[in-house]
Amino acid sequence: MTQAIRQNFRFSHRLRVRWAEVDMQKIVFNAHYLMYFDTAIADYWRALALPYETTMQALQGDLYVKKASIEFHASAHIDDPLDVAIQCSRIGRTSFVFTGAIFRGDEHLISGELIYVFADPATQTSKPLPASFRDILLAYEAGEAMALVALGSWQVLGAEASQIRDEVFIQEQHIAKELVSNQADETAIHALARNRLGLPVATGRLLQRAPGISQIGRMAVSRVLRGTHLGRAVLQTLVQLAHQRGDHEVMLHAQRSVEGFYTRLGFLPRGEPFAEAGIEHIEMVLGP
Ligand SMILES: CC(C)(COP(=O)(O)OP(=O)(O)OC[C@H]1O[C@@H](n2cnc3c(N)ncnc32)[C@H](O)[C@@H]1OP(=O)(O)O)[C@@H](O)C(=O)NCCC(=O)NCCS
Repeated sequence: MTQAIRQNFRFSHRLRVRWAEVDMQKIVFNAHYLMYFDTAIADYWRALALPYETTMQALQGDLYVKKASIEFHASAHIDDPLDVAIQCSRIGRTSFVFTGAIFRGDEHLISGELIYVFADPATQTSKPLPASFRDILLAYEAGEAMALVALGSWQVLGAEASQIRDEVFIQEQHIAKELVSNQADETAIHALARNRLGLPVATGRLLQRAPGISQIGRMAVSRVLRGTHLGRAVLQTLVQLAHQRGDHEVMLHAQRSVEGFYTRLGFLPRGEPFAEAGIEHIEMVLGP
C-alpha cells in the first residue's frame, strides 16, 4: 500500500529529525511537519530549475498558502531519516494544490495538502496562474526535462552567460570583473542552460587550448539551483562537443573546492595545485 502511495510522487526530499523538533514524548511536535513540507517545497522549486525570487519577479506575482491540512498516521522520532514527497496534484485558475506525504522507510507517517494562490503582492488579490508556470508544473510531473542547454558564440549567448558569471564569480566569489570575461570568449563555444521560463541558470565555455586539446572553463551555476545537476548537464554538453570535433584531450583548471564535482564526472587531477584569480586551483584532465 505504502509502495503504491510512494510511486505517485516524482519528487522527494530527504531530511533527518533534529532534537529541537521533538517534544517531551520524543516524537516530532506536530507543527514541524508543516515546516518539513515547506522545506521540501523549496527543493521542489529547485528541481523545476526555478529560482524562487527571480521566477516570481518574472511572473509578476507571488504565491501564498491559503490552506494547509495535515493528517497524522504515525509519529516520527528523533534522528529518523524522513522522505518528504511532494506532488502538484491539481491546478486551478488562480490556485494549485500540493499533496504531500512523509515516509520513514516504507512507513507512511503523514499526509498533507497545501493550497497555494497566485496573487499580486501589492494588492494581495488573486490573479490567474500564468500559462507558462502552469505548463512547467505539468511538464515536471510528466517527467520532462526542466532546463535545456544551448550552444553558441559569445555574440549570441554572451549577455546571458555574463548574467550568471556576474552573479557567481563577481558577486559571490569576489573575483575582479576584468578576470571574469576575456578575449578568449570571442573564439570559445559557450554553453548556456535556460529554464522553461527562458531564464539563464548555468553556463560554461569550451576553448581550443592547442590542436587536439579542449579546455573547459567559466563553469557556473546559479547559487540557489546548485546540486540539481545543471552543472553536470553543461559539462557533459561541452565534453560531447570536444569529442565531436575530434579533440583527444579535454582538460580544465578546477577550483579546489569543486574538484569533487569534476572527479564524479571522470576528470583526474594532474600536477600540483596553483593559484588563479587568488583562488587555489588544480589542473584536471578527462580520464579514458
Ligand atoms: C561547480 C558547479 C558548477 C557544480 O554545479 P552543480 O549544478 O551544483 O553540480 P551538479 O548538481 O551537476 O552535481 C553533479 C554531481 O557532482 C556532485 N558535486 C557537485 N558539487 C560538488 C562538490 N563541490 N564537491 C563534490 N561533489 C560535488 C553532486 O553531488 C552530483 O553528484 P551525484 O551525481 O552523485 O548527484 C557549481 O557548484 C558552481 O557553479 N559553483 C560555483 C562556481 C565554481 O566554483 N565554478 C567552478 C570553477 S572551476
